Amino acid sequence: MTRLSSAVPAVPLGLLQALCVAAPFCWAGSPTLPPCAPHYEIRSGQSPDGTGVFFLGREIAHVMTHAGADWLERPERAAEERPDQLVPALKLQPGHQVADVGAGTGYFSWRLADAVTSQGRVYAVEVQTQMLHRLRRNMTARGLTNVVPILGTPTDPRLPADTMDCILMVDVYHEFARPCEMLHALWLALKPSGRLVFVEYRGEDPAIPIKPLHKMTERQIRREASLHALEWVETVATLPRQHVVVFRKQAPGISAAPGTSPAYTPPARNSRPD
Ligand SMILES: C[S@@+](CC[C@H](N)C(=O)[O-])C[C@H]1O[C@@H](n2cnc3c(N)ncnc32)[C@H](O)[C@@H]1O
Repeated sequence: MTRLSSAVPAVPLGLLQALCVAAPFCWAGSPTLPPCAPHYEIRSGQSPDGTGVFFLGREIAHVMTHAGADWLERPERAAEERPDQLVPALKLQPGHQVADVGAGTGYFSWRLADAVTSQGRVYAVEVQTQMLHRLRRNMTARGLTNVVPILGTPTDPRLPADTMDCILMVDVYHEFARPCEMLHALWLALKPSGRLVFVEYRGEDPAIPIKPLHKMTERQIRREASLHALEWVETVATLPRQHVVVFRKQAPGISAAPGTSPAYTPPARNSRPD
């Protein structure tokens, strides 16, 4: 077992920290990276679907390449995932600034753009340029002008700071190469009390026909989020295959230790409700 700390450099936040020290109101911009490195491990004997890098005991999945883009737009997806129920659960309003992180071909970006109307904006973040090309085409075909494509990196979504009312991550968090650094960068992009939303296939349910590393349990999501100043708000459990786990940005310094997210009891709902 090898720690990742020496293999991957820390995110350079020194400049931001210096700016924050100088600023009069800085809780939202107090960018102290939590101690990420000790929680990464490299292990042998990993799953073929995994990278061999483990974060808080969970093996990180390989990124889905753009060769799988058609799968994201499969016709049966609407029945399997019910985006018509997911988007209302986000409680977006006209004028909201939202991010669709790991946007893929924009399956959710255009739905979010409709929800926030032309008064609002959707930042569609991707690490694959091929996905962004396809996303741009899809948004143009729909005549949308309020979707901003952004080419991010595995540690930096390149979002404006303190701006987002809501950040959505559908079926992507489990494949973030650097989940801890990404969550920190997303935390910086949220407005005070802005919401960070994980949508993952339910790892508690073996009947859901998705590879294990591409699912996550609510317990693990909350464990990983607990490294950051994020308060759990609710878990929406009404979708056929996924859970929607919602957090709110808090002032820094009050996150729980990993695995000790307060008052968490695993729910008794391990089977598909549909
Ligand atoms: C399984 S796809 C889901 C796409 C979209 N959310 C959807 O539900 O249709 C995951 C996408 O996340 C992207 N991705 C992976 N890591 C990322 C990161 N750190 N930042 C932004 N995008 C990322 C991948 O390139 C891939 O297109």
